[in-house]
Amino acid sequence: MTQTSDQPSASTIWGGRFAGGPSAVMQRINASIGFDKRLYAQDIRGSKAHCAMLVKAGILSAADGTAIENGLNRILAEIESGQFQFKTELEDIHMNVETRLAELIGEAAGRLHTARSRNDQVATDFRLWVRDTLEGMEGALRGLQAALLDKAEAHAASVMPGFTHLQAAQPVTFGHHMLAYVEMFGRDRSRLKDARARMNECPLGAAALAGTSFPIDRHMTAEALGFDRPTANSLDSVSDRDFALEFLAAAAISATHLSRLAEELVLWTTAQFRFVALSDGYTTGSSIMPQKRNPDAAELVRAKAGRVIGNLNALLIVMKGLPLTYSKDMQDDKEPVFEAADTLELSIAAMTGMIRDLEVNTQRLKDSAGAGFTTATDIADWLVRVAGVPFRQAHHITGRIVRLAEDKGCGLEDLSLEELRGIDARLTADVFSVLSVEASAASRTSFGGTAPANVAAAVAAARQRFL
Ligand code: ARG
Repeated sequence: MTQTSDQPSASTIWGGRFAGGPSAVMQRINASIGFDKRLYAQDIRGSKAHCAMLVKAGILSAADGTAIENGLNRILAEIESGQFQFKTELEDIHMNVETRLAELIGEAAGRLHTARSRNDQVATDFRLWVRDTLEGMEGALRGLQAALLDKAEAHAASVMPGFTHLQAAQPVTFGHHMLAYVEMFGRDRSRLKDARARMNECPLGAAALAGTSFPIDRHMTAEALGFDRPTANSLDSVSDRDFALEFLAAAAISATHLSRLAEELVLWTTAQFRFVALSDGYTTGSSIMPQKRNPDAAELVRAKAGRVIGNLNALLIVMKGLPLTYSKDMQDDKEPVFEAADTLELSIAAMTGMIRDLEVNTQRLKDSAGAGFTTATDIADWLVRVAGVPFRQAHHITGRIVRLAEDKGCGLEDLSLEELRGIDARLTADVFSVLSVEASAASRTSFGGTAPANVAAAVAAARQRFL
């Protein structure tokens, strides 16, 4: 058959019942090789496991098995050295590899696809890829936790304002604030590990959808590929993409945590806050304003969370209307996952660098820790503890003290004892001992609280739990 642009030849792989080949547009919309070439290592790994199993089960001769194995090794080397010619007309990674295998070893290549389908093949390849990637991600988050823990340790006693509603609320320590993120990224890691445990079942051998009539050993391939067991239902095996969704969900949550931290860095580096300074390595200058140091990396981490969340959304929408089992829609599962993985990897790396280099302005933190009457709760607590006043009443008395300080334009600690006693006679000079921001933070010794001694102990405990 001669090939023209209108009448291209049918595929040698599935073209048996076709007279003509796909149009150019059909090829463009159908081909996934542009992105699924990223699955090459997993595809070859899966094919080798399948081949070894076919030989062991007596479905494939030992000689064919050896030829296939050698051919696959050669293809792996060709791809890794950049010599492999990926072809759009061969649609995807599976057919690119198989076609090259036929060029290399001839007819035996055609026996590799016995007792499998591209449907279980792609499900297996993709699971392997997500599993590998998730492990890398988990390690990267651990590195970020290590950087946060170093900052937390160095600033276990650095007092700063803690906020609710972005209004100064109570003094906390900078170390305590860093530890909040250590917890978030710890949960992100455990979500990834949970997802890994659930996804670690092997779909290979489900074939197109119904299983196969060949005497295959699915336990053998599952074990060879590091899976805990084969998947239990062949229909589910080829149509499940939960594993990708769970990865994306975990990635989206982690990206959200990164974005919140990034937002705080953007806020804290402003001239109005000046809590921290980012290094030259993670900032840029302005082409017009010589004084500017822009927190671009933090802003981009904040922005990129949107893409990761979008990728989760994209795949949920691809999947939500699909009847069982495989539909070609599912080929579109890969780009969202690849993009989310790349984006998150870069965001974690950027955040780790920013945190590692972060300079903390302890003087400025301390100076602003008391602004906004942040020790007011400590006066109320003092009234409860020392004078036996019910908390609601103590709250009211303290409110009047705050109003007096506000009217005078001074801090709570600048009021005289006479002024305090004018509001409530039960107040004594002892109350001044709780008015400093250091005393306030140091008094919060409840488990998980912000007292410097707690924070130091929490850093040590977190190192045990997470590193
Ligand atoms: N490239 C395809 C995908 O990623 C492989 C599976 C194709 N299967 C099929 N029956 N067309 O989904």
